[in-house]
Amino acid sequence: MKLWKGRFQKEADPKTNDFNSSISFDSRMYQEDIEGSMAHAAMLGETGIIEKNECEKIIAGLREILSDIGSGKLQIDADAEDIHTFIEAELTERIGDAGKRLHTARSRNDQVALDLRMTLKKECAEIKGQIKAFIKVLASKAIDYSEAVMPGYTHMQRAQPITFGHHLLAYAEMLLRDVERLDDSLKRIDILPLGSGALAGTTYPIDRELSAKLLGFSRVSMNSLDGVSDRDFCIEAAFNISLVMMHLSRFCEEIILWCSWEFKFIELDDAFSTGSSIMPQKKNPDIAELIRGKTGRVYGDLIALLAMMKSLPLAYNKDMQEDKEAVFDAIDTLKLCLTPLIPMVETMKVLTENMRSAAAKGFINATDCADYLVAEKNIPFRDAYKITGELVALCIEKDTTLENLPLDEYKKVCADFDERIYGFISLDRCVRERNSLGGPAPENVRREAKRILEGLDEQG
Ligand code: ARG
Repeated sequence: MKLWKGRFQKEADPKTNDFNSSISFDSRMYQEDIEGSMAHAAMLGETGIIEKNECEKIIAGLREILSDIGSGKLQIDADAEDIHTFIEAELTERIGDAGKRLHTARSRNDQVALDLRMTLKKECAEIKGQIKAFIKVLASKAIDYSEAVMPGYTHMQRAQPITFGHHLLAYAEMLLRDVERLDDSLKRIDILPLGSGALAGTTYPIDRELSAKLLGFSRVSMNSLDGVSDRDFCIEAAFNISLVMMHLSRFCEEIILWCSWEFKFIELDDAFSTGSSIMPQKKNPDIAELIRGKTGRVYGDLIALLAMMKSLPLAYNKDMQEDKEAVFDAIDTLKLCLTPLIPMVETMKVLTENMRSAAAKGFINATDCADYLVAEKNIPFRDAYKITGELVALCIEKDTTLENLPLDEYKKVCADFDERIYGFISLDRCVRERNSLGGPAPENVRREAKRILEGLDEQG
């Protein structure tokens, strides 16, 4: 039976009832709904809006419902309109008239905004924990592979030598920004909308600061219309999650490339790869591909939220019921992706020899060859660049590399060369000397990785 029965003479058409219902996706907020109601009841009791003994009955009844849902003793009714009406109806059935007083000075509009904010606070904290665990894996691996030389790319062409550790730390930096963004958005999630009523506050002498304190909110919303109709925090959460997914998709794309026979920079553990039903030789990076694919789905959630809120007049409109499926899907998808990704990266085998031999081809030390002429022979960089270009063309013609080109060939292009060029363009030197702040030198990588790990430990 509907809570808003009085005005209606007919039961809702069953299909309309299903269409209108949000219980299938908002029942996951049952705990937040009950905790929010307990605080609301306590505030009503404290301010004398309801009798103390009724307030106690309500809180005891809600506590019982919470434990009964948790233990499976009480099943959530799939035909209920939403989690809010289900719990209120159940309470009234259990404790009688006192239950009917719970909704004094409250509307489902401020109630649902509250539940959602409480849920997002919890979910964002969980996501942050998972991201931090991933950053830890990346930073520890970066220390392990701080000396592993690999080619760095631009335009997917071998460009300059870097270390695998440095490459991993680039992702750690992205994810650190993601954590920072989640923390920042928490400031705007952590605002209590309860007390906004349906849209226009209430005539009861409520104490919103008390409700905020009981529920652990830092602030209360300051405009009742905005309190019930603000969904910025959902959009921000979906955006933050989209950005994390974008970062994961870039990483996964690289994993997919690195696993290919063309690269063979890494090999995934059998536990995190899949085979083919027809091709016996195949070992596929399905997890990475799925994460890459699911990124589009999360972007869809963000766009759905933005489009749903577009042009909505104040204050609450039923359109806003669509917020939950989108934001929950974004949250669940990210959590689902991080779960196998972290151990997959932790257990992957890094084929450092293959990385090094890829780095030895493709003239990624050409810039260093030019720098040698600048540093050792005082040749202007633009001239050194041209000389090196000619040397590269010569190597290509002779099917060799700068490391293997004989000195007399060097001298034919520029008489200033001497045998120290070979030391100068050795890959180990090339990365070791790239020790400018933020550069790929092994000592930089180790220092940065340690700084990241210590920072995470401090945050706990
Ligand atoms: N199920 C609704 C939602 O998710 C709760 C708020 C309903 N309020 C209303 N006036 N119909 O948005």
